[in-house]
Amino acid sequence: MSKRSKRYEYYETLEVNKDTFIHEIPEIGLKTMSGPDDPKPSIRIVDGRIVEMDNKPDQEFDLIDKFIAKYAIDPDMAEEAMAVDSLEFARKIIDINVPRSEIVRFTAGMTPAKLVEIVSYLNPVEIMMAVQKMRTRKTPANQAHVCNRKDDPALLAADAAVAALTGFDEIETTVGVSRHALSTALGILIGSQIGRQGVLTQCSVEELLELSIGMRGFTTYAETLSVYGTEKVFQYGDDSPWSKMFLTSAYLSRGIKNRFTSGSGSEALMGEAEGKSMLYLEARCIAIIRGAGCQGVQNGGIDCVYISSALPSGHYVTMAENLIAMLWDLECASGCDGIWSGSKTRNAAHMLPWIITGTDYIHSGFGATSIMDNMFGGAGFNVQDLDDEIAIQRDFKVDATLKSLTEEEHIQVRSKAARAIQILCEELDLPRYTDEQIEKVIYAHSSDDIDRNMNDNIRMSEEIIKNNITLVDLLSAFLKAGENEIAEQLLGFIKQRIAGDYLQTAAIFKKGMKCLSAVNDNNDYAGPGTGYRLGKERWEEIKDIRQAISPDDLIKAQSLEENSKGALEMVLEEVDIVSKENKLYEVVIGISPAFGKALNKTLSDLYVGDVIYEILAGIEEEGINARIIRVENSTDLGMIGSIASKLSGSGVAIGIQSKGTTVIQHKDLPPLDNLELFSIAPLLTLDKYRKIGKNAALYAKGKCPSTVPVSWNDEMLVFRTRAFPKVVMLQQVEEESVDPEKGCTELKAHFNRRR
Ligand code: 5AD
Ligand code: CA
Repeated sequence: MSKRSKRYEYYETLEVNKDTFIHEIPEIGLKTMSGPDDPKPSIRIVDGRIVEMDNKPDQEFDLIDKFIAKYAIDPDMAEEAMAVDSLEFARKIIDINVPRSEIVRFTAGMTPAKLVEIVSYLNPVEIMMAVQKMRTRKTPANQAHVCNRKDDPALLAADAAVAALTGFDEIETTVGVSRHALSTALGILIGSQIGRQGVLTQCSVEELLELSIGMRGFTTYAETLSVYGTEKVFQYGDDSPWSKMFLTSAYLSRGIKNRFTSGSGSEALMGEAEGKSMLYLEARCIAIIRGAGCQGVQNGGIDCVYISSALPSGHYVTMAENLIAMLWDLECASGCDGIWSGSKTRNAAHMLPWIITGTDYIHSGFGATSIMDNMFGGAGFNVQDLDDEIAIQRDFKVDATLKSLTEEEHIQVRSKAARAIQILCEELDLPRYTDEQIEKVIYAHSSDDIDRNMNDNIRMSEEIIKNNITLVDLLSAFLKAGENEIAEQLLGFIKQRIAGDYLQTAAIFKKGMKCLSAVNDNNDYAGPGTGYRLGKERWEEIKDIRQAISPDDLIKAQSLEENSKGALEMVLEEVDIVSKENKLYEVVIGISPAFGKALNKTLSDLYVGDVIYEILAGIEEEGINARIIRVENSTDLGMIGSIASKLSGSGVAIGIQSKGTTVIQHKDLPPLDNLELFSIAPLLTLDKYRKIGKNAALYAKGKCPSTVPVSWNDEMLVFRTRAFPKVVMLQQVEEESVDPEKGCTELKAHFNRRR
């Protein structure tokens, strides 16, 4: 093509077009569903033993088939469950009259291929309906990543405290340098409990180290036990379903809550998909997890979401795999974590179904730090998106479990958490923090804003190991330092470790260390009026975002007393009505009822005194006289302009409302027609107002000037929409100033510059 379309050149600049999109290549696993070698569902049981599964006789079973057949499928239920018509069962999943318990009774006897066949009948909306009923816990939850590039424990504590107070129920971290693991785990443990007692924490590192950190009491869950859908990929990881089962037992027996990680695309990534589709292989992963006796999974692509999302139906399949986990009665952390697109719109679209539906963990997790500090390789959602998510839950009246913090709350909780680490280092004789270092941590946005030698963190981790410091030592250190409140928060946690309630499926802690799980908060959704519903108190919390303004704030901002240094104060003196007789060369400026009284600022943030001054100057430049009248009985710009024009000797008038919307009017035109209209007040500058004055004067002289140009760009369009909610409130004030008995008042303007 020799000549390029400007539109297509523009398309190329868009973030969405920098994303990678690929066509399906089924042979190598680059297909989300219906792979060429996906099996048809089947089962055959002999003497209570599965001898054929998904069209494969047991002599041909690979390690995964063997494991699934032995541990994941209930042979007593299998024949009945596999005989159910898949379409009919898909309908039952979204039928509000069929309880969740009835669904999981059947899925216990189903094979991976059977579940794939069933969910394939559901479209995305039906998957959302299904998730609403099938997620294990009734109350939704959310998970955050808290890491930093410097692995600084005080900064970790501060960020974890904020994340916990914001409402995340689990906080996980990972390290840049593995020798920082203990100080890192300690940082998020202390910070999270100070932010909100009961938040569960994880430090994702090498498996042996991770287990030992948990046994020390520094972490309460582990989530990154990976499983894969083909034998070969397990072999690459030097693992098998059995070794993973052993590992999960090790965690659980030491009181550490456990979930596996899987997700579409890992087998294709490793080049070992065996011609199977992503969804079928993921169904095998979930079956392994179920067979291993683990209570949950983090899936939905996870680190491989950038592969599935490049393919047709990439997000459909990650939704479907989340649902399969829930159908198999597992707690499901639904992904929405890894970064996979540069497009904000695609990112939001990916997350939206889950934020609306609610899952066991909507994000797993949300990057609760600056993206560059996220050592999980960044997340799709990070602190730069936090206010968006908080706004989205308010927009849809749904619970993403978050709340908006004020800057004071943010600083206060960071200060408590960072100082707690400082105290701990002193009490336990670990490398210390100076007050200056702590101050930097409290006010930091990212690890760029702090300074501490990273070697101190390695030393800290080594000391913790050498001195065998455990959760109990942390508790006594705080007691010794007189920090009883923090000690109390940790003690509550230690008690829970002994009670072990959080080992129940989908357990989290809400206010007052109340444990919610699939046992005591099981999902009883059965249609409208059932399942999780926003309570009144929680809805008030969601509504109350820190950016929201009330009429009082707006009125305060309109007052000349607020920050009006440098503004022209306009005093409007009432005078007798001046006759228009023989005044051919005048322009009348008609102002609205509250103009310069209750309201002093236009939508482009200009003081009305400055605006009138410029208009007057523009009129004067043309040697024309100006008068000002206030239309007391109408707020309507058409009426204001029209009434003013009838009082003008030349017949030309300018009408202006307090918010800055302006019209140039002629007495012979009907009120809704005009010479020039400036309906988008946020676009008007002082310079434009001067030109408006000048043009009105030229019309008064019988000339025909070219209209005042108003420049537009994309941002200004947004500007306009942002102004609308304020217009509603300003209009209210304008209306309250109307005096229907009064007609017009003639005014004389005096100006004073504010100092
Ligand atoms: N399949 C299996 N394991 C995964 N992880 C992430 N994505 C997947 C996936 N699709 C695990 C890896 C990684 C950790 C963060 O989660 O073990 O290191
Ligand atoms: Ca996670």
